Amino acid sequence: MAENYDIVLSSPFSNYGFFGHKMREFCGQMGLSFFLVNDVWVKEFTQKLQDREISVKVLLDLTANQTIEDDPYLLLAREVKRQRGTVIDDPDITATAAHKGKFHQTLVDNQIPVPETIIVNRSELDGFQITDEIKAKVGVPFVVKPSWGDSGVGVIVDASSEEDLRKSAELAPNSDSFLIQQRLEPKELGSHFGWFRMFHVCREVIPCWWNPQTHEYELVTPAQQRQYKLAPLRRIMRGIARPSKMKKFTSEICMHQDGKFYAIDYINADPDMNPKSFYANGVPDEVVRHVVWLLFYDAMHLVKRGHGFFDEDLGESEADRDWLERRRREQRSVGA
Ligand SMILES: Nc1ncnc2c1ncn2[C@@H]1O[C@H](COP(=O)(O)OP(=O)(O)O)[C@@H](O)[C@H]1O
Ligand SMILES: [Mg+2]
Repeated sequence: MAENYDIVLSSPFSNYGFFGHKMREFCGQMGLSFFLVNDVWVKEFTQKLQDREISVKVLLDLTANQTIEDDPYLLLAREVKRQRGTVIDDPDITATAAHKGKFHQTLVDNQIPVPETIIVNRSELDGFQITDEIKAKVGVPFVVKPSWGDSGVGVIVDASSEEDLRKSAELAPNSDSFLIQQRLEPKELGSHFGWFRMFHVCREVIPCWWNPQTHEYELVTPAQQRQYKLAPLRRIMRGIARPSKMKKFTSEICMHQDGKFYAIDYINADPDMNPKSFYANGVPDEVVRHVVWLLFYDAMHLVKRGHGFFDEDLGESEADRDWLERRRREQRSVGA
């Protein structure tokens, strides 16, 4: 019989301890089995899965390394999926949604406000001209960024020529296309900039201020939502979530100087989960805690096939009825 793990968290990041421990706590509380896969275990764990020594019901993949075909976490996600476990998020869905060039067009088709953008395939780079027409559309300076990119690698925010496009292509060798994009300037809103890092987790939207220079997060309060009329943030997030089919991601949204909101970074499939109490530019602890809960709750429903916490477990199962008697017997034998 294969050893079953109800919920498995995969992450190479040791600073996700808070997240991992919280998840383990919920699993313990609700009687689900749990395993945390990190660099030490990822290859062995995948091998044991292939050999059917273990099985996985739900994998929460915190890495989402879709660009690297032999990334060990991607191989794990694929194996779980192959064996009909659920991966959050499905690596094949992430591969389309997290590609900035492909998803840009999806957002345009769905009337989600995005900056003026031109997409250039890598194969077109040689001899590509940034014409006056392009400059008139996106303005100068503009932003160049790779379709496959993360943590700002290959993003040039003060670009003005073809040279910048080539530089971005060198910095992001795995990217098959590039965006030439209108540069937006956030409006000042009191002591904040109108730049937001929005979490979308299992249909819930959590808004944070995010400083694009210091990368500091701060939860948006209900009073601020009213004061600065931030309702469009939620609408944009739902508009991104629907066509993407992603369960957990963050997006960057800017309130530009014209007072309108634009999606800037569409899908970050590996949202930061470092708690702010330990990392200066970490996520507010209450947000991390809530995200763990939302993911746990979703995974638990999958594990229990739609049942809530107590529906089946507190019933009259044989195991429950025998539990106290068994425990007494065990204690008597230990004491003997
Ligand atoms: N259109 C834009 N206007 C202004 N700044 C931008 C724009 N696009 C990106 N940036 C800046 O560059 C950073 C990285 O770009 P982003 O699109 O978020 O890529 P990544 O996926 O690498 O984080 C953003 O956090 C923002 O500070
Ligand atoms: Mg970003």
